[in-house]
Amino acid sequence: MAVEGGSLKIAAMTTSSSSQNAAGASALPRIAVLATGGTIAGSAPDAANTAGYQAGVIGVAQLLAAVPGLDAVAQIHAEQVASVDSKDMSFALWTTLAQRVNALLADDDIDGVVITHGTDTLEETAYLLHLTVKSAKPVILTAAMRPASALSADGPLNLLNAVTVAASGAAAGQGVLVAFNNRMHCARDVAKISTYAVDAFQSPEIGALGWVQDGRVDFQRRALRPHTLDTPFAVVDDAAQWPQVDIVTSYAGVSRIAVDALVSAGVRGIVVAGTGNGSIHATLQQALADAAAQGVAVVRASRVGSGHVMHNGAAKDDALGFVSAGTLSPYKARVLLMLALAAGNTQKDALQRVFDTY
Ligand code: SIN
Repeated sequence: MAVEGGSLKIAAMTTSSSSQNAAGASALPRIAVLATGGTIAGSAPDAANTAGYQAGVIGVAQLLAAVPGLDAVAQIHAEQVASVDSKDMSFALWTTLAQRVNALLADDDIDGVVITHGTDTLEETAYLLHLTVKSAKPVILTAAMRPASALSADGPLNLLNAVTVAASGAAAGQGVLVAFNNRMHCARDVAKISTYAVDAFQSPEIGALGWVQDGRVDFQRRALRPHTLDTPFAVVDDAAQWPQVDIVTSYAGVSRIAVDALVSAGVRGIVVAGTGNGSIHATLQQALADAAAQGVAVVRASRVGSGHVMHNGAAKDDALGFVSAGTLSPYKARVLLMLALAAGNTQKDALQRVFDTY
């Protein structure tokens, strides 16, 4: 092992088992596994403990060693990009990760990338990469709900399945995917829907793209919206230069204090997690209309967790200066709004086209 460029690199961790000859191993797809931390790399004091553990403490070599049969699926090149609890995901790490993924995929010696990540912000990172990776090669995120030290830890099988999907060839051109609990989800659609269950991810309303089991990868449908090579978006090189976009929620008795504070702080955008079809309490709606009138981009999403927010539906977007988020959750709407603002889209109509397209 050697440390290169701040990341732990297990140089050409091509694993040929005794049952596999060298020629067979070298014919396998070459998959880069980038570890970032999370529960999949978590450790607890005892095996029955699945809640009181520390995330992101086990290294990528140990994660890979816990997956029997991986060497029959792919040649693995492994890197430790970070070791974080994903609740602490940062702009700097997003930029590092996206740039590393793009660099690896530009290398003819790499056929695909798997990223191990915490479940808590996995859907945000997945959508960010879906919009900013510039390659048709597979990029698969995976994670775990139980720490690596737990009885029935789910990480090893999730990791094996993620590498299987990346190596299969079937994932090429499908954008960034999440392989979790035997299902494959589009990064745009997927959401964490349970705080504790092993089946913690769904694509609400729309459903998974397919499934992976016992080495078989079966896609049932494809994502239709443009992604990866077909977007104009890129991560912001300088972490300090990401446009500031925050999220507020509408609820009974909500005040305008948070919106007014955000506007005073100079935010570029606000996503509102509205009730129902993105409806907004009158007090908050007035505060957001005032923000929009001052040039802040206001995007209307829903706190419901599934369904879509119709333009000029529950709020008169055109009159109020709002953009509607469609099927994007507030968290993904924030990701898209930041990328769109960074790409120079500041006018409401241009932003609405972005949300109608991606
Ligand atoms: C994290 O998101 O890093 C911790 C929680 C998890 O991975 O399940």
